[in-house]
Formats: sequence, structure tokens, C-alpha cells
Amino acid sequence: MSKVEREFLAARGDQLNQGNYQAPPFLPRKPIPNIGLERIDGERFFSPEFMRREWDRLWTKVWLLALRESELPDPGSYQLLDFGKESFLFVRGEDGVIRGFYNVCQHRGNILCQAQQGDATMFKCPYHGWEWNIDGTLRNVAHPNLYRQFDGGIPKDELGLTPVTVDTWGGWVWFTMNRLAAPLRDYLGELAVHLDTYELEKFQLVDYQTFEWAGNWKHAHDAFNESYHFEALHPEFTNITEGYDIPIELNGIHSRMLNFNATVSEVAAERDRLTPLRTKMMGIGAGMVPADYSGSAKNVHLEIIARKRAMQDDTYLPYRRMNDEQLAHQYHYTFFPNATFTQSAESCIVFRYRPHATDPNISYYDFFITAHNPPETPTPEYTHHVYRHDSLPDYAEAFRGTFDPVFTNVLKEDGSNMPTMQRGVQSDAFKGMILCEQEVRIRHFHQTIDRFLMGDVTIPPLATNA
Ligand code: FES
Ligand SMILES: [Fe+2]
Repeated sequence: MSKVEREFLAARGDQLNQGNYQAPPFLPRKPIPNIGLERIDGERFFSPEFMRREWDRLWTKVWLLALRESELPDPGSYQLLDFGKESFLFVRGEDGVIRGFYNVCQHRGNILCQAQQGDATMFKCPYHGWEWNIDGTLRNVAHPNLYRQFDGGIPKDELGLTPVTVDTWGGWVWFTMNRLAAPLRDYLGELAVHLDTYELEKFQLVDYQTFEWAGNWKHAHDAFNESYHFEALHPEFTNITEGYDIPIELNGIHSRMLNFNATVSEVAAERDRLTPLRTKMMGIGAGMVPADYSGSAKNVHLEIIARKRAMQDDTYLPYRRMNDEQLAHQYHYTFFPNATFTQSAESCIVFRYRPHATDPNISYYDFFITAHNPPETPTPEYTHHVYRHDSLPDYAEAFRGTFDPVFTNVLKEDGSNMPTMQRGVQSDAFKGMILCEQEVRIRHFHQTIDRFLMGDVTIPPLATNA
């Protein structure tokens, strides 16, 4: 049990063990802390020097999301993950344990495993044929008699694959390059305890796609961690969600916000009528048939909460453990620096933002659709694609029906800002970002990066709402 969990048990009178713990609601909301008003520079988005410091002092220090545990179903199942300049190899051992390694041949430094995923009994470098077992130990050197270095025996320990530290939470495999990192649960902290109420380990991976964007990874992060842009960039969203002046909380190096679903934004001219778009996008959930509902469009979420509460003892979904906000709305959590969970009771879309190997002007936006399906649902099938920035697909086509076209259009709108932001922040006329209170998660994120780059890699709270 981690330190955070022990502290929680103590603070909440062991309620976690009794199964009646509920995630703390956002409402009534706590004031957003004032963590400064200064402009944030543009150089961080395009400077090769800033990118190098991020590698040395940020990426190599933090915990990073790798993949779903279910993607490694059997002993020998493996997957590769490109992260910045590195290739990582995750593999389930004969003992069932998931391990992670730098995917690098110890002979002359070739990339060892070159198929993106598969099942292996060992890994053999295609160059000269050195071999490793799936637990990372050296299996065979081709003709060791040719090496004077091995006259006294092959130094097997020295020639094993270089490991990364791996742990799991919520059905996800996480890893860190930092041998001195705090345990994963301590790193994720209290926010992971909140999300435990959704029983994430039972979610199935429905789809996973990657979009290469012509913008720095931090633009992608910033695009998905405030809702202030909904009205201008996604006007259709004002019909189905509230993004104006929503609750936001900072928590250590992480943060969360509450996106209200199944309501009409207060910025909309008319909030009561159930238009076809509103009906389509709000009528889902808890078996609700739009024809049954005669109330105001802005109050659909209240009806959804009432219906889910009424059926909480008659469903495989853990509604009973959830507070009312969780039943209808989206708990939007970002674990620093690059994993965002957009969480609802029935599904969670997870975003991961990855840097390019060498170019600060390019990044990778990974999109995982997960769902808490009924037990015994067959494992969903999907094919992962990496769509290049100069040939991005129509987003609806990329998801082939796993994501509603209303939302794929929203994604297209978000993606459209990447090259224009990347260009604009490099202008001589750009004086730095001015961030409003609704963009405090972005300010907090960049301040946290700055702290890491200054060498402060401790986890204690930077700011909280408490
Ligand atoms: S580089 Fe891998 S065996 Fe030679
Ligand atoms: Fe957006």
C-alpha cells in the first residue's frame, strides 16, 4: 500500500477498505488559487535547447503512461513504444510479470526488436544475431570465441537489456526512466484514488490511434486542459456541455476540472429546447429514451443522475460508489506531464502527448478509447495507425465508428490549431501567453515544467485549492 493510500485511510476512517469511499466532488467549488498572472514565453514551444532540457530533466524523471495491460495478454506478448529519442520494449514474462526495457542491442547499439508488436520467445538482433530472453537476460552471443573480452567468460549481467521501472495502475502499464522515482501510486497521488471509484482496471480498450501534429507536445497538452475555447472553436459544444467558468482544482503537480455534460451552456442564446443535436448527444446513458423526457434541455443531466441513482443496485457499473457529479459529468484529470483522463462512468478517453525524437515542432497525440463494457464482452478489435502530419486523415475515418462524428469534428478543430500555434508563438510580435483563471491548469503545467527544468523533481504540492 502506498503512502498516499495509507494517508487516505487514516484521514477518512478506513472508508476505502469498507468500499464506501467516494471521490470528493467539485461542488461546492473551491476558489482557484492565484499562482501568478505573468505571461508565459513562447520559446518553450520551439527552442531545441528547451527540448534538450526537457529530455534531461523532465521526461527522464517522471512516470509515463505506456499501454493497457490487456495489450500484453500472454507470456511473450510484447509492444514497442517510441518516446522521444528512445524506443522502449514492454513484454510479459513467463512468470506473468510485465517488464520494460530500452529496445537497444547491447552489441553495437542497433534497435533490437523492430516489429511494433507480437509474441516472442526471445529477441534476436537482425544485425549479428545476438539474442535475449524475454526477461531481458542475455541468451546468446554469436560466436563468443571471437571476442577477447569474453576469454574469462561472458559478463551476462553487464550485457542484459537495460530495464526501465514498470508498474501498473487502473489497468494501465506505466514506466519511468528514473531509477530513483517515487512509487507510481505516490507519484499519481490523491487524484488516482478518486479515479479508482470508476474501476478502470475493468475497462476495455476499444480503439487506439496516433496523430502526428505539426506543433510542440505542449500545445497539444494545452489544447485539452481548458474549456474556455469551447465557445469559439467548438460552437456546437455549447449545445451539449458547459465549458464556461467551470470548477478547476490543482493537486500537487497534477490537476483536474469538471466538464458538465448533458446540459446547455449558459453562453447559448436558448437553453430549453431539445433540438435534434441536443437530443442525439444528450439522450444517451442510463437507458434514457429522449421521447420519455419533456423537461428543459439544460436539465437533462439532472434526469440522468436520478435514473442512474435509481438503478445503482441493478448494474455492473459502480454507480453506487460514485458521487452525483460522476454519474453525469466528466471528471477531467491530467497526470503531469502528459496523460489526460476524460472520465465518465461508462467510458474514458485517454490522451497522451509525446515529443518527437529531435524536432520541437512535431509531436504525437495518442488517443485511447476505453469503455466499461458489460462482463463477458468480447475483446474489441482495433488496428493502431500513426497518421503523419502532412497526410492527416479525416478524423471520422480514422476512428471508423468508434467515436461519434460530432466528437471527431471537435478533434479536427483542436488539431487545426497545432500548426498555427506553432507558427504564431515564433513571431517577433508574440509577447507571451496571457492566461485567464479558466486557463490556470495551463499556467500550473508550465510552472511545473519550469520547476523540473530547474532541477526540482520533488513531488510536494506546487499549489492546491484546499
Ligand atoms: S548490433 Fe545487434 S547483434 Fe550486432
Ligand atoms: Fe477542444
